Amino acid sequence: MSRIVVSSHPLIRHKLTLLRDVNTEPRKFRELIREITILLAYEATADLAVAPVKVQTPLAMADGFALQERIGLVPILRAGLGMVNGIWELMPQAEVWHIGLYRDERTLKPVEYYNKLPAAATVQVVLVLDPMLATGGSAVATVDILKRWGAGRIKYLGIIGAPEGVKALSQAHPDVEIYLAAIDSHLTPEPQKPGDPPRGFIVPGLGDAGDRQFGTG
Ligand code: PRP
Repeated sequence: MSRIVVSSHPLIRHKLTLLRDVNTEPRKFRELIREITILLAYEATADLAVAPVKVQTPLAMADGFALQERIGLVPILRAGLGMVNGIWELMPQAEVWHIGLYRDERTLKPVEYYNKLPAAATVQVVLVLDPMLATGGSAVATVDILKRWGAGRIKYLGIIGAPEGVKALSQAHPDVEIYLAAIDSHLTPEPQKPGDPPRGFIVPGLGDAGDRQFGTG
């Protein structure tokens, strides 16, 4: 069973509420994704290894620390892209490796369309970034790819998870920690009548995180 951290931080709760709002326009939506991701990353990076170093201040030598591990950010295209920049500002030395997956609308299975990982892993800690953990298919497939690559510790950072997705990722990869702002109620079923949302959307959720960021909905 994975370690699952659902933040109850007031700032995250406040910002998530604005993110869910159907009236939040793409510019504000992107800003909120960035801000929530930074807050989640603060928690998710609490165990990064540091080594003691000395630093010269204007007054004297002081004891300090330096990050030890090579960190990789792996956004799942497209929606994960909006989660990169905030964390990158915190850790400008991080490498960014993109994985392109889309969900087949009929089967809901992930289809890989972009992967330029080099032959051997270059990082020791990976943060997988994707706002929506719906069926969990995309997250499980991405972690499969990263484990075959030889990535070290892998953590998943999302914004909203469905119980189905959390369970699927946790069962497939119990060693992967999952950080979320919320776990919602359920996934939409097969549409019954015109106007019903497509199958496999998180309820209440926030709609399509890719479309809402990129203005393509
Ligand atoms: C969405 C979302 C996740 C995936 C979640 O992406 O951003 O990547 O679906 O679903 P799952 O847990 O059932 O796999 P989508 O396929 O819509 O692509 P997009 O980000 O390019 O819009």
